[in-house]
Amino acid sequence: STTDIPDGGGADFIVVANRLPVDLERLPDGTQRWKHSPGGLVSALEPFLRTHSGAWVGWPGVPDVEVDKFTEEGVWLHPVTLTSDEVRDYYEGFSNATLWPLYHDVVATPVFDRGWWDVYVRVNKRFAEASAQIAAPGAVVWVQDYQLQLVPAMLRELRPDLRIGFFLHIPFPPTELFMQLPWRAEIIRGLLGADLVGFHRPGGAQNYLWLARRLIGLEPSRGAVGVRTRPGVVQVGDRSVRVGAFPISIDSSGLDTMARTREVIQRARQIRADLGNPRKIILGVDRLDYTKGIDLRLYALHELLTEGRVDPSEVAMVQLATPSRERVEHYQRMRGEIEQVVSRINGEFARVGRPVVHYLHQSIDRKELAAFFSAADVMLVTPVRDGMNLVCKEYVACRHDLGGALVLSEFAGAAAELTSAFLVNPHDLDGVKNAMHAALTLDPAEGRRRMRALRRQVLTHDVDRWARSFLDALRPSTQDAVT
Ligand code: ADP
Ligand code: G6P
Repeated sequence: STTDIPDGGGADFIVVANRLPVDLERLPDGTQRWKHSPGGLVSALEPFLRTHSGAWVGWPGVPDVEVDKFTEEGVWLHPVTLTSDEVRDYYEGFSNATLWPLYHDVVATPVFDRGWWDVYVRVNKRFAEASAQIAAPGAVVWVQDYQLQLVPAMLRELRPDLRIGFFLHIPFPPTELFMQLPWRAEIIRGLLGADLVGFHRPGGAQNYLWLARRLIGLEPSRGAVGVRTRPGVVQVGDRSVRVGAFPISIDSSGLDTMARTREVIQRARQIRADLGNPRKIILGVDRLDYTKGIDLRLYALHELLTEGRVDPSEVAMVQLATPSRERVEHYQRMRGEIEQVVSRINGEFARVGRPVVHYLHQSIDRKELAAFFSAADVMLVTPVRDGMNLVCKEYVACRHDLGGALVLSEFAGAAAELTSAFLVNPHDLDGVKNAMHAALTLDPAEGRRRMRALRRQVLTHDVDRWARSFLDALRPSTQDAVT
């Protein structure tokens, strides 16, 4: 595949996301380097784009830097500069203290700040302009996620020749909650600039269609939206906008292959030994985010230990937590709470040299992560709300040995697909405890049966299939919309 963009030409396929797939890191000695960006959006899209030529428009992750375009593993990266005020108002403010909590069922109270909104509009405009500038005539432009919901309409205004897709990586909220947003009509209109608007689940698509009727007065289709099929449709002037459900996934075979390497298998053994060869290893892997329910799983473990249903000399729990959005208040508070319960558990149940909970507030590299997944007997994924959650799929992809057990929240989008997991309501602490206990005492044959079913799902529905189904539905010729 050719990746060269001739001057004055332009890219035929462009991903537009708040973040580039790599993050600029400034080291204490004044030098800088690029590292892998955090989060599921990049984990999913980066392997896809590496095998398809294209460009990626995004922010390098630090304020006030001007970086020229460059290529990285065959992808043209086009950095968009944000000032520190814009990072505060657009990224930490409107994106992550307004939209993020609102779209995650208001598990934290969203802040509605008019100044933040103005900056959100301004920054969305900058992303639209950057994309308009590099797109070849008739190019496909795929806009990503809640930070850029105004870009589709702004881009259409600048470049009506483009084919524009939009995908939301987080849940789209119940309409009653969305209606709280003072700028609700502007957001719905921003997304209507796309030819295809995609969500993880049919419910999100249906909510969006309802709002297009209620807030904009359009006449959307009324039939039920399917998964990957039968998108809804809404006529906007002479254009039809499709609205569909496309559950995202991971590079399943890539991870499966990695988990089978000697290096990863040996490292998994080493991790078990480093933990003191406990009978059972429990694992949590998340960005440190209040939607992930890290606190809830720790409370559940604490009670199981207190009640003597789990023996602290037989179990080690590892919680890996990527630092995230550290200047946003809710994140600071949640970090404090998690660190407090970790110390309480260790204070009460550890022995010298044998903590019960090993907590790393660090980002781990991919191979090391695969080794942790391979070593874990019980994987805890307990978000109170999650658009999809890729961690649970990554765990399954690493278990070619059919070992391990997955405890998964019903409130993760992935629960609709991973029905052979131990599904839990994370708000029901007794239910979480019982599921953890069942997973810790699971009969190996039953465990293999469950894992085989989970792997069938994850290995056949990978990120390539997700991207292909979205991009196929984005093509003008597709005629299977619901009416
Ligand atoms: P989100 O996008 O909300 O962070 P996902 O589960 O969809 O949640 O994706 C998280 C991604 O980040 C996964 O690819 C996961 O492997 C990765 N990840 C999470 N925690 C860590 C960590 N401590 N170190 C490295 N990668 C991590
Ligand atoms: C989630 C969001 C992404 C975001 C990622 C990491 O996956 O859907 O859009 O990039 O979290 O969060 P951050 O704020 O660090 O980009």
